[in-house]
Amino acid sequence: MKIDALKALLNEMTTEEKVGQTIQLSADFFSDQSEDITGPMNEMAMTEEKKYQVGSVLGISGAKETIALQKRYMEENRLNIPLLFMADIIHGDHTIFPIPLGLGATWNPDLIKQTAQISAKEASAQGLHVTFSPMVDLVRDPRWGRVMEATGEDKLLNKRYARAFVEGYQGEDLKEDLTKLAACVKHFAGYGAPRGGRDYNSVDLNENTLREHYLPAYQEGIDAGAKLVMTAFNTIDNIPATGNKRLMRDILREEMAFDGVLISDWGAIGELVPHGVAEDNKAAAKQALTAGVDIEMMSAAYSEHLVDLVNQDETLKTLLDESVWNILKLKNDLGLFEQPYRGANETTEKEAVFSNENKQVALTVAEQSIVLLENNGVLPLKKDSKLILTGPLSQSTDLLGAWSWKGNREQTTTLEDAMAAVANPDVFSVIDDRTFLEGQNSFFMDDLRTADTVVVALGESSEMSGEAASRTNIKLPENQLVLLRELKKLNKKVVAVLINGRPLDLSEVVPLVDALVEAWFPGTMGAEAITNILFGKVNPSGKLPMSFPRSVGQIPLTYNEDSTGRPMTEGKRSEKYLSRYLDAENTALYPFGFGRSYTTFEYANLTLSSQKISEDDGLQVSVDVKNTGDVKGLETVQVYLRDKVGEVVRPVKELVDFKQVECAPGESKTITFEITEEQLRYSHADHSVSSDAGTFLIGIGTDSSVTLSASFELEK
Ligand code: NOJ
Repeated sequence: MKIDALKALLNEMTTEEKVGQTIQLSADFFSDQSEDITGPMNEMAMTEEKKYQVGSVLGISGAKETIALQKRYMEENRLNIPLLFMADIIHGDHTIFPIPLGLGATWNPDLIKQTAQISAKEASAQGLHVTFSPMVDLVRDPRWGRVMEATGEDKLLNKRYARAFVEGYQGEDLKEDLTKLAACVKHFAGYGAPRGGRDYNSVDLNENTLREHYLPAYQEGIDAGAKLVMTAFNTIDNIPATGNKRLMRDILREEMAFDGVLISDWGAIGELVPHGVAEDNKAAAKQALTAGVDIEMMSAAYSEHLVDLVNQDETLKTLLDESVWNILKLKNDLGLFEQPYRGANETTEKEAVFSNENKQVALTVAEQSIVLLENNGVLPLKKDSKLILTGPLSQSTDLLGAWSWKGNREQTTTLEDAMAAVANPDVFSVIDDRTFLEGQNSFFMDDLRTADTVVVALGESSEMSGEAASRTNIKLPENQLVLLRELKKLNKKVVAVLINGRPLDLSEVVPLVDALVEAWFPGTMGAEAITNILFGKVNPSGKLPMSFPRSVGQIPLTYNEDSTGRPMTEGKRSEKYLSRYLDAENTALYPFGFGRSYTTFEYANLTLSSQKISEDDGLQVSVDVKNTGDVKGLETVQVYLRDKVGEVVRPVKELVDFKQVECAPGESKTITFEITEEQLRYSHADHSVSSDAGTFLIGIGTDSSVTLSASFELEK
């Protein structure tokens, strides 16, 4: 539709119709079992008439269903304005990829973009228009269950993934390319930093930290063209984000130049009341509209009060028009006025969904997401050693993770079946023991005596991470530790495969195992991917996107912490008055960027093209990376630097770039990175972004524990 026609449409709308556009209902409001929804209808201040004025529906899927609802709705809607269909397609639609934390461990944004393209293709064929993804919240606290939905603790990595997701979902021409979805960057802002790691809790970030670490990934998603942003449940500066005018209007709209649709999170406008910043739903509606929230997801404040509010207040009337304009523009950008069913098509749906081609990508990405934490030589498994598989997740199909939308466990292979397909049947057997996940120990140790190597699948069930799944104890469940202790006594080689949604405290696990494989929730092809890693068909290359702590007491933990006045450095272990713990190291058990391979890489000849850098001239830094083992391997080469003196305290180390390189045994490659002045900029005390002249330390290595052994000067 031409812009003039769209404006004319807005002018033709009644206030009730405009308010309708700002309301989002879940799909069950349109189900045929209307008696089941009388209660919810009342709670949402809905009537049959109002229902056919709402602007969007969440949680619907299936071409047949979306076409039927759109048809019915358009017949009832006076102005024929089509509905928007939205859903949480987070790490796959039917074909489920690893959870985002696992995707983060690939360090491969191109591959992540491909997963987003596949999600969009599958979901658009079912008639969906918007996905509530990517979640780009930076995370430093593994107690928070939603770390599984994040891509980690680093802003650069998060930025690269944010862009990859948005570009993958939206493509280059959202209107014409019906296999694409509009993306929604969430949760603005700072949702990844709840106090104590408790979901929905308040957030206490100083503005400099917010700007320096947390905002960049949202900005990147917006710059990549994301059509929507979702508000966070939490407070920023003690004001809930959903009613925070400064955050939404001054920072998001003005500074960050976001001009799309701002949608509340589920019920978040209504929650301004229990937050204690609004007296009632009416005040909440006023506050949220004033802050610039265009769509209210599943609370009744707009539905109940917006008509009255705007009738009494010209300013609010203008704000309502702005919101409705944003929503109509989104519908127009998706081409819905011309094609209200967009990509929905039952035939295309059948072909698009869960295709072999999609599963092949799911396999590759799952393989690349797996991180080898320990290996004393037991992996890859020897084909002729006597193998036993056990553990609570060995026969489980709970491999998809907490946000696996249309993922079907019945189409998910268990580790037992995947391993049985490749292991020599004479030497491979399985001991069924799911009880270790359920809380009782069982006694089958005698059966294990015949094995050389025991593969034990451990971890969390999918309900133990995700939304509303915070934990204070992030160790393996105690009965799984009991199992490992018993196995240790048998003196067998033990390979532990971990399936879980957060960095765990593995301090007690490490001494009990010979190899430790972090597989996250690996998705549709997860069991096959794990098997390929275990038997060496694929050499592991995943690198942690988030630190694994030594103990829950270190949390929040991040490699790029601020410098302190009393740093704890090597050689100072006997000193007391330092920033340290009496009972633990400061460092992570496995640092950000860490991951082993079946080969080894040697780094040598760190070389800088110049000792100086300026605003006009950057420099090149290079290093030789050599595969010193006997199998081919993929290494992620990481560059870190430190700004020695800043106007505000700077991190002890920051990732500034990375590249992946594949080397054959014995092969050496020189990897070169460009360093420019732009990469040295940061948020200053007045929140301006610039660099400071002076010394920078730099290093290139295999993970964030690298020593920064070279330096250069920025001249201004
Ligand atoms: C609440 C979650 O916080 C958000 O991420 C999700 O998109 C909505 N629910 C919709 O399901």
